[in-house]
Amino acid sequence: NAYYAVFGHPVSHSLSPRIHGAFAQASGIALDYRRIDASPEDFHAALQRFAADGGRGANVTLPLKELAVAACSTLTERARLAGAVNTLAWSDGQWHGDNTDGAGLVRDLTSRHALDLRGRRTLLLGAGGAARGVAPALLEAGVGELVIVNRNPARADALSDALGQPGRAHSRYWEDLASLGDFELIVNATSAGRSEHDPLLELPFSLTNDLTGAVDLNYGPASIPFLAWARAGGCRVQIDGLGMLVEQAAESFQLWHGQRPDTDPIYAELRAPRD
Ligand code: ATR
Repeated sequence: NAYYAVFGHPVSHSLSPRIHGAFAQASGIALDYRRIDASPEDFHAALQRFAADGGRGANVTLPLKELAVAACSTLTERARLAGAVNTLAWSDGQWHGDNTDGAGLVRDLTSRHALDLRGRRTLLLGAGGAARGVAPALLEAGVGELVIVNRNPARADALSDALGQPGRAHSRYWEDLASLGDFELIVNATSAGRSEHDPLLELPFSLTNDLTGAVDLNYGPASIPFLAWARAGGCRVQIDGLGMLVEQAAESFQLWHGQRPDTDPIYAELRAPRD
């Protein structure tokens, strides 16, 4: 029987089965969607077994998104640019890879939060897989200048080179954050804050003004330090990555099932405090 799954390591906390389950129920689709824990060493073999057993689509989460690229026979342009795949679809005996993270972020910001991104001077913090996944979509959504700052400057340079729009997207040094002026959009795509042992980001308040939208691609506890900084810095809005998570799932769902689900009910459910 056709089935679907999210691959990760660890994967037990993934919300994807719940989100896809809610979409399927509302769309009247019978969906078998599982969690599969695969270490980076086992991932490619696990994907082959999954396809042989009837797996027809998969989401891929940390730390497997970059590894998923090599498992694909074809990649969408946005997955190629990101160097990371979060959505796999099986057809003609092959895996086809896409990356819906950037589209999910832009949809969350523009539809749910009604932010007009066009022309916004934007700071992207980080240049890992998460940053690469969203940078092309931010440019496509019409942000103005996109300044990429990463602790390791070579990765920021590589990302700005890959984007291929030197007039608009360029890298700067982390040490120079205090002299970059202020931004209308700041996106935290670093993993700092995901583990309690991580050092906190040290960011100057000179980056913000009272119109700044601050966005963390993380959600839950991992997003608290950056969003607290943004609040203290007077940013107009602080947005975590929960909406992006739901929207990237909706993009995957549409790819597999040909229907666009309503994301509001499950977003509200996940946002509500648990009783
Ligand atoms: P992901 O797939 O979530 O992006 P990743 O590819 O490991 O994970 O990238 C993590 C990102 O967070 C990187 O940009 C990393 O910076 P480096 O490339 O310099 O390592 C960034 N990062 C992690 N911890 C950080 C910290 N304490 N301060 C600043 N940046 C940090």
